[in-house]
Amino acid sequence: MDTQITLRVDGADRPLTVDTRTSLLDAMRERLGATSAKKGCDHGQCGACTVLLDGRRVNSCLVLAVTAEGQEVTTSDGLAADGPHRLHETFVDHDAYQCGYCTPGQITSAAGVLAEAAQGWPSAVTEDLVADRTDLTDAEIRERMSGNLCRCAAYANIVPAVAQVAVEQGVRA
Ligand code: FES
Ligand code: FES
Repeated sequence: MDTQITLRVDGADRPLTVDTRTSLLDAMRERLGATSAKKGCDHGQCGACTVLLDGRRVNSCLVLAVTAEGQEVTTSDGLAADGPHRLHETFVDHDAYQCGYCTPGQITSAAGVLAEAAQGWPSAVTEDLVADRTDLTDAEIRERMSGNLCRCAAYANIVPAVAQVAVEQGVRA
């Protein structure tokens, strides 16, 4: 069944008619030409499609487009609306990608991790609250971003790229 919705993607309202079974990822990529989020597995297993939904990380291949109406969808492109986000710059500085296919998802996920740490969500590695220790460790970054796979195995450079921004944002000593 088709229905008319308006998605707010990277700050722009985008009206469209979709089958109610359409994923947010397919709606963005195939209907709106918003191709920042990538399709890897289409099953919630790779993280290439990661976007922020009202600031919270989600796999957009697992979200129905109709349920995203009224929420703010932010992709890696949206993070760069006012010029490159610091994560874009540190990913370049640290060579944190090879083919780049996973990179928009990695960067969007990393932006979510930094926000989570700033809010003091419980550690994914220890019993501690991250914000109490301003300690977004390498292990914490790896654990929190374990849903973002990189076929090129650029992890060794992705972690320091995220860590550098964590220091700059005060969530890592
Ligand atoms: Fe969504 Fe892989 S394409 S998790
Ligand atoms: Fe190629 Fe990550 S840079 S998949």
